[in-house]
Amino acid sequence: MLKRITLLRDRVADWNGYPFTVPAIHKLKDLNFRSRICFFVGENGTGKSTLLEALAVHYGFGREGGTRNFQNDTTESNHSIDPLVKALRLSFDNRTGMGFFLRAESFFNTVSYMDALDKETGFGPPISASYGGQSLHNRSHGETFLTVLDHKFQRNGLFLLDEPEAALSAQRQLGFLVLLHDVLEKYKDAQFIISSHSPVILAYPEAQIFSFDNGSIHEIKYDEVAAFQIVRRFLNNRESFLDELLQETPPLFKNKNE
Ligand SMILES: Nc1ncnc2c1ncn2[C@@H]1O[C@H](COP(=O)(O)OP(=O)(O)O)[C@@H](O)[C@H]1O
Ligand SMILES: [Mg+2]
Repeated sequence: MLKRITLLRDRVADWNGYPFTVPAIHKLKDLNFRSRICFFVGENGTGKSTLLEALAVHYGFGREGGTRNFQNDTTESNHSIDPLVKALRLSFDNRTGMGFFLRAESFFNTVSYMDALDKETGFGPPISASYGGQSLHNRSHGETFLTVLDHKFQRNGLFLLDEPEAALSAQRQLGFLVLLHDVLEKYKDAQFIISSHSPVILAYPEAQIFSFDNGSIHEIKYDEVAAFQIVRRFLNNRESFLDELLQETPPLFKNKNE
């Protein structure tokens, strides 16, 4: 299990360049993991993906996601996190070397890469065989996601997931919780670090939640998560919430001729 991340501050050459310009990363000293499931939460742009990607590259995953066998890397900007990768120390009590990185924005590229490998290699079982035998592009986003999940998560390893809810209906988010539970129960060296805005996913019991808001990474409780508080207020009293919200909003959607 990954027990601790430390930012070796004397290894940082340029504090004024990305990723150290991101406030939460700038202030990072160390993060200690007690639970095998941990969430990164926070407003858009607070550095969740930055840290998750740096962890993934440090661990040896492909920059655009997948296992350590998928080393796809299609854009120069993938390397902008390298100064952070170089300055991190990851402390494990048992490093399995296994796992999976799901990077939401380049999941499509990962899928293309897996498909291309299948076409090129003439021997060995096709990669798609372990995904149900057909190109992953031939499925809906949600189906692809759950297929990959089913095949890749049933083992020990470090699983880094960036906003998995993007692909999942509410019903499937519940299914995702069940799957997490199943994997964590069966595999005692399975560990998940997940960035999410989903009040459903974040509700997993006993998870550690790290907030990236207000310029530093700090632990908070579930009922302090903004994503949960806002949705709760919304659902508790939708009409008055909307009245208040829309009162001052310019009439963007009104018919111009009215
Ligand atoms: N390659 C990059 N170069 C410069 N700035 C970047 C780069 N990638 C992300 N950023 C900036 O770093 C900040 C944190 O981004 P990110 O980690 O993607 O946030 P989050 O995942 O929390 O929404 C944002 O302000 C974003 O614009
Ligand atoms: Mg992000």
